[in-house]
Amino acid sequence: MSGTNDLLLRALRNEPTARRPLWLMRQAGRCLPEYRALRREVSFEELCATPQLAAEVTLQPVRRFPLDGAIVFADLMSPVAALGIDVRFDPGPIVARPLRDAAAVRALRLPDAAEIAPEVGETLGMVRRSLEGRATLIGFAGAPLSIAAYLVEGRGAKDFPRLRAFLREEPVAFGELLALIAELVARYLQAQARAGAQVLQVFESWGGLLSREDWDVHVRPHTGALLAELAGADRPRVLFQNGAPHLARDAAELPCEGLGLCWRSDLAGLREALGPGKALQGNLDPACLLAGPEATREATERLMASLPARGHVMNLGHGLHPQTPLESIAALIEAVHAEEQAR
Ligand code: CP3
Repeated sequence: MSGTNDLLLRALRNEPTARRPLWLMRQAGRCLPEYRALRREVSFEELCATPQLAAEVTLQPVRRFPLDGAIVFADLMSPVAALGIDVRFDPGPIVARPLRDAAAVRALRLPDAAEIAPEVGETLGMVRRSLEGRATLIGFAGAPLSIAAYLVEGRGAKDFPRLRAFLREEPVAFGELLALIAELVARYLQAQARAGAQVLQVFESWGGLLSREDWDVHVRPHTGALLAELAGADRPRVLFQNGAPHLARDAAELPCEGLGLCWRSDLAGLREALGPGKALQGNLDPACLLAGPEATREATERLMASLPARGHVMNLGHGLHPQTPLESIAALIEAVHAEEQAR
């Protein structure tokens, strides 16, 4: 492609495009052999902490494949070091001293923007210069609930029972924690925009853990405040929710240009219910790619046929699996690019 590739930005602004833009959640790292080779030499923590290496990993997928977006290589927990919280990885985040009472929440202090994961800003600057407009640069952060889930639970856990218990035991402190994280993440994403991020994606990875009522009362105000505060950054905002088809209609009312949906969601039905306007991103089941290129092509074509191209950003319904065959990624890209030739 010659010139600047603005497909993703145009789709998120609900403008017509020659074909749907495409990027893949967790495209940096995970299944690329060049990432694995680098990881044999360097730990995940060191990759994240070293902008030259994080920039290299961000660029690896867009060098290998003609993707329309590049997502910065960092972690969901990258901004919490600035709160003085100790996190290590094995392979997911492990918090040394999980927050288990109101006093622990009230002891937290908000850092200035310059102190929040400054390495991520540096990485974004380097990647933006290297991309020269070939792909749109995506910055990201966890939603207040996603980050709080690890801070309270201490590590990834099926259904995060301690987090859900904390909401019942200490509803006020739970709200204070989410409000503090919303402000932390707002400062972090504003800094990412200044450093070169052209789209801001918020990962609400565990929205689906809660009932609609609990999410509405205890989470939505904070996710909403975060998104509202980002309006000033003047970058399209995408809210991705995993495992949460029951929240999609409520989430669609939040101030964001795009809504990312997991593979359980009915994208076509949601488009019909919402009408045009808000971009929808997703939602091919990442497991389709494990079934090989033919299955991937077929599922991609079926998804594309189910909803209008306008305002649709092709993506998976969650992150790429580490064992994804590269031929399946190629087949997905080919199927999406074929739309342009067909017109
Ligand atoms: O999308 C990308 O490729 C950009 C980088 C990125 C990483 N983590 C790098 C990473 C992104 C966007 C994330 C987000 C993330 N991290 C989420 C939200 C998305 C989601 O899945 O809903 C969550 C919940 C995490 C927490 C986390 N970090 C887990 C559960 C793990 C374990 C292993 C894994 O790959 O999921 C990590 C570590 C991590 N973060 C790795 C990578 C590439 C693996 C590190 C390694 O090489 O061993």
